[in-house]
Amino acid sequence: MKFKIFSILGITLLCCFLAVTATLIESDKSNKLESRSTKSYLFDPLPKLTESSPATRYYHLELKVVKLSPDGYERPVWSVNDQYPGPLIQCNKGDRLVINVTNNSEDPATIHWHGIFQHNTNWYDGVPGQTQCPIPNRVSFTYNYTVDQFGTFWYHSHFLAQYVDGLVGVLIVHDPDDPYRNSYHEDYVITVSDWYHSPTAPLLVQRLAPHYTGFNPYPDSALISGVGQYNCSGAPAGYYCNRNVPPPTYNVNKGKKYRFRIINTSAYVTFTFSIDNHPLKVIEVEGTHVKNVSAATVTVIPIHVAQRYSVILDANQPVDNYYIRASIIDSCLPPRTNDTINYNSSINFNATGILHYQGAGSKKPTSTAYPFTIPLCQDLNASAIRPYKDSPAPSNVTNDFVFNITFARNDDDVGLLGINNSSFVPVFNNPTNLRIMLQENFTDFDKNQNAYGYDIPNGCVQITLLNNQPANHPFHLHGHTFWIVASGLGAFLSNISTSEYNLKNPVIRDTIIIPEFSHAVIRYLADNPGVWAFHCHIEWHVEMGLVAQLIERPTEFSNRTLPEDVRALCLQYDSYYKNHKRLTTLPRDSMVKRLRMFKKVK
Ligand code: C2O
Repeated sequence: MKFKIFSILGITLLCCFLAVTATLIESDKSNKLESRSTKSYLFDPLPKLTESSPATRYYHLELKVVKLSPDGYERPVWSVNDQYPGPLIQCNKGDRLVINVTNNSEDPATIHWHGIFQHNTNWYDGVPGQTQCPIPNRVSFTYNYTVDQFGTFWYHSHFLAQYVDGLVGVLIVHDPDDPYRNSYHEDYVITVSDWYHSPTAPLLVQRLAPHYTGFNPYPDSALISGVGQYNCSGAPAGYYCNRNVPPPTYNVNKGKKYRFRIINTSAYVTFTFSIDNHPLKVIEVEGTHVKNVSAATVTVIPIHVAQRYSVILDANQPVDNYYIRASIIDSCLPPRTNDTINYNSSINFNATGILHYQGAGSKKPTSTAYPFTIPLCQDLNASAIRPYKDSPAPSNVTNDFVFNITFARNDDDVGLLGINNSSFVPVFNNPTNLRIMLQENFTDFDKNQNAYGYDIPNGCVQITLLNNQPANHPFHLHGHTFWIVASGLGAFLSNISTSEYNLKNPVIRDTIIIPEFSHAVIRYLADNPGVWAFHCHIEWHVEMGLVAQLIERPTEFSNRTLPEDVRALCLQYDSYYKNHKRLTTLPRDSMVKRLRMFKKVK
């Protein structure tokens, strides 16, 4: 009986919610939001850092919703300093970053620094419900950490699907000892991303609605460095849509070499990246330099959600314009069924930009694409991305976990993903690291906290991921890189033979694709006490619960002192939360509450 009441309430709430959402979209048409357009830094070479290192570098990020039209179609965008993608943050290895975040976005928010280890500063990792309370609207919070690594990173909101609404930016850490430093003249960044015309709040409500049978929402555009060219004929009447967005263009001089840092900031899709007539030499994968071998020169790079590569391009072709191509790989997506949200989107899967040789004039490229087929939705071949120096994986495993990726419908027929049949539910106002510091034992947590702990200093943790689902999952580990000791077809332990593990020179990275019906075995060192998220980076799957929390060395971590401002944030969030119970002001929060309620029903 009680269950029934909950379900009815759930449906009623959902209806109110949809009504509210509709008004939100309606109000987008008004001029309530400021319209902005800024030229992106992404089309210029990275400016050189002048101040010598080690230095403390200060940044200020203002989060605000403004109207932007990255692909021509105007929508409210969760911007950073009025920009999408947000401003560049860069430093040298060994520097300290002090980043003040002021949240003027109307929603709570956090910023996660994707790939940054946060040694000794777990509380600045930016994961709501795990490492901090969300930063409420009108509140500033300062992230402050040293960076003892180098490479190509990005930052993004970790609060609900805010990053998909635009809250992302680029974070580059230079290595004074970069073995490739003299192999290129200039350093460029390219982001590739899917893009949605609807804000994510209503998309999430639909994705997580009872009885929903479709797949993840279909994007409307593919963007290169935040720029797309939408065919405006698909835009509803009355919306601003610019058909003449200039193509994203990178300028090169013949005879020079360029480093391109490619980042996939998508919610959902895998891209192939290529530049016609220009083979690309891979030199970095997610903060690890790559061995200088011929296999590292590739023509087409598959890049999954949240992954990064650095490549060197030799501008040695005739002076001309050449296409830069970012194509969504269809074979990584499920079928486009008509019960899927936005299935009839008029997306062009093949985004193009231009590599413009100085002096080439402005005529359209006539270059042709390199052939490419990816039979399964896999990572770039391991032989192309071996670490610069062989880095053997540890052979003595001290903690061994098996994570089955599972899908199930709860009693309300909401489809949820989980780790070992448990769908993660964040508790925003009581982050896990605070609980560990208050001496709570993670083994007493609710099952839906998906908490897995280990306490041996510098032990070797092994995680075997088994994906017996017809979907691909790019998994990201916070606070670490990992060795990929095995990966392949088959989603049962019986498919994995330990004799085939590569411990000698495995690929090292922080984000790995686990294709459908396959497995991977990763290892990492327990060298970073704290609470670390381990999750599929497809944002729709995060909200469906495909998240684990790794509780690393709780005994030691619980003896650390949480900075006062991190603790204070929870009080600020609590008072904010109490004053904003109404659906109209907090659609996303309400959705999470609704989900939590559904889980209670279960
Ligand atoms: Cu880009 Cu939890 O990460």
